[in-house]
Amino acid sequence: MRFGFGKNWKKLVSILDEDRIVEAESSIKSMLSCENLKDKSFIDIGSGSGLFSLVAARLGAKVNSFDYDINSVECTAYLKNKYNFNDDIWKVEQGDVLDKEYLSKYDKHNIVYSWGVLHHTGEMWDAIENASDLVKEDGLLFIAIYNDQGWKSTVWTWIKRTYNFLPWPLNSVFSLLLFITVFTIGFLKYLILLKPMTYIRPYFNYKKKRGMNPFIDWTDWVGGYPFEVATPDEIIEFLGKRKFSLIKSVTISSLGCNEFVFNKNKS
Ligand SMILES: C[S@@+](CC[C@H](N)C(=O)[O-])C[C@H]1O[C@@H](n2cnc3c(N)ncnc32)[C@H](O)[C@@H]1O
Repeated sequence: MRFGFGKNWKKLVSILDEDRIVEAESSIKSMLSCENLKDKSFIDIGSGSGLFSLVAARLGAKVNSFDYDINSVECTAYLKNKYNFNDDIWKVEQGDVLDKEYLSKYDKHNIVYSWGVLHHTGEMWDAIENASDLVKEDGLLFIAIYNDQGWKSTVWTWIKRTYNFLPWPLNSVFSLLLFITVFTIGFLKYLILLKPMTYIRPYFNYKKKRGMNPFIDWTDWVGGYPFEVATPDEIIEFLGKRKFSLIKSVTISSLGCNEFVFNKNKS
């Protein structure tokens, strides 16, 4: 059972504008603490829409992008062509982060970026290990992995399986009803605290979230399967054993992804 992420990304590509690109750019600059990526090699594992590969190329990096889903590959290739990048700067392919033979053709990179991907492979820890193997000595690994919320994550796994099991249009109806339920519960919680706008405002400012869109993100969230989760400590320990030091993280206590930037220690 596998969610077709790429079809959903096509919707984001169709509404992509300069504002969204600038938001995506500032999320990369802020997490990597840089102003540009000149002379850096950047590999985008699970490139999805291709937005972050585009940002890396605009910031001056030499970019390799790959994704398992052919529709995601098409989105990424579309952006590459639309913004006039040639193969010397940006290469786009279909590929699987779990396929070691495929990965062996790549040199090590200064920056390995895989946001919201490795937990959707079905073999999260192997995927993290394979991604980390692509980092150059003293290079950076920037990943985002779903937060382990205990029993709530188990409930979400069931919801995602149900969404993928249902045929269209039942899956869309299921997703809409779920959105209304989750939104209403959240809104009522903030209403009781007399802060309803605190809950609603981010929906109007959603572009600020890495240039994303709330409805596209919701479908990605409800459908996104396979699905695994980890606590920040588990990720830090796993990569610590592989000679990576955490240099920056943004962690959450709720539903969503924890973000990490690791440095690969010099030997
Ligand atoms: C939630 S999207 C994230 C897209 C993008 N990284 C971003 O930050 O917007 C997850 C992407 O990972 C891709 N993916 C899932 N399993 C993969 C695998 N084994 N190898 C490469 N990409 C994979 C999906 O096709 C999808 O495009």
